[in-house]
Amino acid sequence: MRNPRDFLKPLANGAPAPLLDVPATPSRMIHFFDPSNEKMAAKVPDIAQKADVVLGNLEDGVPADRKEAARAGLVSIANSLDPSATLWTRVNSLESPWVLDDITAAVLEAGDKIDVIMLPKVEGPWDIHYADRLIAQLEAKAGLDRPILIHAILETALGMANVEEIASASPRMQGISLGPADLAASRRMKTTRVGGGHPGYRVIDDPDPANPEAPRATAQQDPWHYTLARMVDACTATGILPYYGPYGDIKDVDGCEAQFRAAFLLGCVGTWSLHPVQIGIAKKVFSPDPDEVAFAKKVIEAIPDGRGVHMIDGKMQDDATWKQAQVMVTLARSLAE
Ligand code: GLV
Ligand code: MG
Repeated sequence: MRNPRDFLKPLANGAPAPLLDVPATPSRMIHFFDPSNEKMAAKVPDIAQKADVVLGNLEDGVPADRKEAARAGLVSIANSLDPSATLWTRVNSLESPWVLDDITAAVLEAGDKIDVIMLPKVEGPWDIHYADRLIAQLEAKAGLDRPILIHAILETALGMANVEEIASASPRMQGISLGPADLAASRRMKTTRVGGGHPGYRVIDDPDPANPEAPRATAQQDPWHYTLARMVDACTATGILPYYGPYGDIKDVDGCEAQFRAAFLLGCVGTWSLHPVQIGIAKKVFSPDPDEVAFAKKVIEAIPDGRGVHMIDGKMQDDATWKQAQVMVTLARSLAE
């Protein structure tokens, strides 16, 4: 398994960073917990055995009078968690009165345990530059020998307009997640849902000329399609990783699976999980389908040099489909390691 920080090294000596085309370490689900909630915090060691990443959330969802307890809880969990666990934190936004203390505590008191700092409400590259410099200063003070990475949440209209610049703002950038709740509010979308579809966002078939009074079929559309597709392009073009984000209706496991799958098919490598039930859904969805992998292996075996036109199981294969097959097989292999 490649170390997520390996892609920083070539940049340090001026060479171009290699394209990070597979998840560096699995991060199919980033499982959120509130470190100020003792009951929830007690379950983290067990959850960390099941989830690829556990994330101590200091931002939205943690009330103002529990921000300090959450920060202290994060440091304590970081220093007691099994080192094999992958721990991230989401700090408060750069406008908040808490973020300076959040980043300072995370780096100085648990910097060797925390892999990634998730930065909410990122609006432009300037936010990443600020966090990058601050983290660098704190890393130097703490004597850390490996960089802590930054993950941005795309959740304002301005952030969306600047997504390409955000993705390439620093070699410290690890990835970007969609934040559908804040983004919906920022865009003035008329929904109270956290991610997923909406029964009102649909298209309707044309009337049947032979039977104009007949009921017309309608189908829901994915309101996040444009955002996710643009985010995936921005991330992939700059060698960082794209993620879906939260799915708020915990009981709607089918809706959650459908939203996660749409994101996976568009190129996302993982998602957030807000409840243990979503860990299993994410694991299933963000691991490649064994039948697709078997077919991809068949393509690669049949076209050893990846060139020319071939028919396999009645489907045309060529240089481009060989690359598609490589994506599937490489992902399957990287997750099996
Ligand atoms: C996540 O932070 C969201 O706003 O959806
Ligand atoms: Mg948000």
